[in-house]
Amino acid sequence: MSRIVYVNGEYLPEGEAKVSIFDRGFIFGDGIYEVSAVLGGKLVDCDAHLARLERSCGEIRLALPWSRAELIAIHEELIKRNNIDEGSIYLQVSRGAADRDFAFPKDLAPTLVMFSQARNMSDAPAAKTGIKVVSCPDLRWARRDIKSVNLLGPVLAKQFAAESGAQEAWLVEDGVVTEGASSTAWIVKGKTLISRPLSNKVLPGITRKAVLAYLGETDFKFEERTFTLEEALDAEEAFITSATSFVMPVTSIDGHTIHNGAPGPTAIRLRELYLDFARKGGVLG
Ligand code: PDD
Repeated sequence: MSRIVYVNGEYLPEGEAKVSIFDRGFIFGDGIYEVSAVLGGKLVDCDAHLARLERSCGEIRLALPWSRAELIAIHEELIKRNNIDEGSIYLQVSRGAADRDFAFPKDLAPTLVMFSQARNMSDAPAAKTGIKVVSCPDLRWARRDIKSVNLLGPVLAKQFAAESGAQEAWLVEDGVVTEGASSTAWIVKGKTLISRPLSNKVLPGITRKAVLAYLGETDFKFEERTFTLEEALDAEEAFITSATSFVMPVTSIDGHTIHNGAPGPTAIRLRELYLDFARKGGVLG
């Protein structure tokens, strides 16, 4: 069955949806994206994703002509038209289509594309086994806080992970782990969760924010600091967070076993709590 996707005001079968070859998202990577999860037919923390979209667009001076309510309505329409119970909605906005010129052409209408992806996330087999991570150098640009569609660095890192039999790559720069290629990186020591501070070096994860929002209901503490790969190899547990993996235990880093190769109790508990909130539409209100 062909999906119904959204492109510039129209809902179309995926094979009929078209974007100009001059689109600046395609030519320059001059665009921003977001990925929001759907659980039980409901969006998870979509408002927070759209707040981050607005911030990213502001940082690249792309004026969004759509209100948050309009964007949420398109998300919901795609969920309905594609009968999505569980999966995600991808949103991409580019500066628009114009003859190739690096500087912003005047009076461009942004291109908005959205589509759904049905997938089993709450009961993902990987959550029971944990995932394998490999490290590689962080080759990305200096503004990783902007969720730009320029993803060549993460694409190469993920391919390296796939060829290494791993599911995620942890990117390393100046001796510390910056984040996963498409996730936030965490380690655990005792009752303390460790993840690096937000800055231009990492994407401010919405799932990270959600975990921190419900941490007060647990006896875990949060230490916001950088950590080295060596410290991660020595950690009691490690896990990643993202809109599509939620809280996912890491059981091996660079072939080194973490927590005896089984998901640890902290990651398991945080995942359960996350799922409870996510099923109600999220944590962040
Ligand atoms: N990736 N860091 C990077 C580099 C990411 O690409 C992502 C998300 C995250 C986690 O952010 P969040 O919790 O808001 O999903 C951290 C999405 C899922 C993707 O590119 O598919």
